[in-house]
Amino acid sequence: MTTTDIRDVTAPDWWRHAVIYQVYLRSFADGNGDGVGDIAGLRSRLPYLAVLGVDAVWINPWYRSPMADAGYDVADPRDIDPVFGTLAEADAMIAEAHALGLRVLLDIVPNHSSDRRPWFQAALAAGPGSPERERYWFRPGRGANGELPPNNWRSEFGGPAWTRVTDPDGTPGEWYLHLFAPQQPDLNWNHPEVRADFEATLRFWFDRGVDGFRIDVAPGMIKHDNLPDVLAAGHGPGEHPHWDRDAVHQIYRGWRKIADSYFTPRVFVAEAWVDTPDRLALYLRPDELHTAFNFHYLVTPWRAEELRATITETVDAHASVGAPPSWVLSNHDVARHVSRYARHQSGKPLRLLDDVVELPADLATGTRRARAAVLLMLALPGCAYVYLGEELGLPEVEDLPDDAFQDPTWERSGRTSRGRDGCRVPIPWAGAEPPYGFNKIGNGRTWLPQPGNWAPYTAEAQKGDPTSTLELYRNALRVRRATAALGDGDMRWEDAPDGVLSFSREPGFQCLVNISDGPIAIPAGTETLLASDGITGGALPVDTAVWLRTTR
Ligand code: GLC
Repeated sequence: MTTTDIRDVTAPDWWRHAVIYQVYLRSFADGNGDGVGDIAGLRSRLPYLAVLGVDAVWINPWYRSPMADAGYDVADPRDIDPVFGTLAEADAMIAEAHALGLRVLLDIVPNHSSDRRPWFQAALAAGPGSPERERYWFRPGRGANGELPPNNWRSEFGGPAWTRVTDPDGTPGEWYLHLFAPQQPDLNWNHPEVRADFEATLRFWFDRGVDGFRIDVAPGMIKHDNLPDVLAAGHGPGEHPHWDRDAVHQIYRGWRKIADSYFTPRVFVAEAWVDTPDRLALYLRPDELHTAFNFHYLVTPWRAEELRATITETVDAHASVGAPPSWVLSNHDVARHVSRYARHQSGKPLRLLDDVVELPADLATGTRRARAAVLLMLALPGCAYVYLGEELGLPEVEDLPDDAFQDPTWERSGRTSRGRDGCRVPIPWAGAEPPYGFNKIGNGRTWLPQPGNWAPYTAEAQKGDPTSTLELYRNALRVRRATAALGDGDMRWEDAPDGVLSFSREPGFQCLVNISDGPIAIPAGTETLLASDGITGGALPVDTAVWLRTTR
């Protein structure tokens, strides 16, 4: 790497065009040989990320946690869980990333805590009516003896969103709210101590040099005061009793002030599965959050008409608030996009492994489409996310044995949903068999078993092979960085045959994606910068994308 490749980590608007790599820490690289990825492993692989050419990493929760939901059950947000390392190692990692020109984003979990957090333990011990219980949502049950949950809200992982506690004297007591697992009680954001504590957490990590946060379940924190039932049908915008309520925005205005008080200003990205791009844009008003994951894009089928509509809607909604759009194809909660695109693309959105597992799969097609998809994503205006292993072209692991499942979804659904473990399998680095260099010491164990046929997917096997997905990502990120038209800015749709996406960006750039059923001609007067697969005789094959320099 030459010095001119080093990113300027002090540029305040870096986030408007950044490509951010999601380090699902437990699956990235294992430094101590216990089978779980950790900070030591991440530090050893930071040069790989710098060479890949991303601008930043986002690290999933690494805080002290009993790991009931892979760390999204936080017991102490201002310390590192021993399974991942120490605070000193975290500090070293942040410094090393910065030295390589990589920004560092963490993951903050404000909607709930772990049931092992001292606050919740104190609430259990203190009993009904106590001030300790007010930091959470404790309520008496319904029914003659309080045996029914206070309302009909459902947990995201299956079953009711309420669990009944046993009082200190051994009798059945109140119920507490958990929109996720029972080990993740929802915090009460009307409580000033809750608010103050999260602000302290932001400052704790900002002071250590962290560049920003991904906000977990960003639309969840505000609940309707009366906790009414969710209606079977019908809610106007902002009227759902526990999702995307308007009062949540006031929290983010406060957080933005804290982020802006630092130099360089720190940034936020919202995890917000909300109904429409317009509702999402509300989180991105100039005094709120900087960016948000574009899940509407993630679930859009690989079909030109739908993609074009989602892209247009996204760009328009973001422009209305002056925020850069973002683009994402995969993360730790959805089936990997190679495997989603390997299925017939009807109009129905495919998201989870459960949505695809019964459908016939053609992995060669899925891979081809995924390669085209990354060129499309990286040519669009704004910033983009890469989920660990997607640069290796990894498919979803669809056949994990039942006894391997770790995601609480499996048990909470009565063992009917295969959950999210299939996209979380530790990634392969080198060698012909598991653990494929995931750990270099220890007994070769990995926290989820790796498939036996991943040797061709290792970073080592792909490095230097110009046809590999890894080299495609490296080239795409290099060309993107060197091309003034890419990143933040505008785009213009060009006329194109049915099934083809064509857009231009100034100065002198055009992207073409062929999702029709036959090859199409590449426009005259252009020069090919990069293609997702081979181009023959001036024609772009099906499921292929190309970046062009236009000289017209
Ligand atoms: C978010 C996370 C997911 C987690 C949930 C509860 O959706 O991405 O992994 O299970 O929040 O914290």
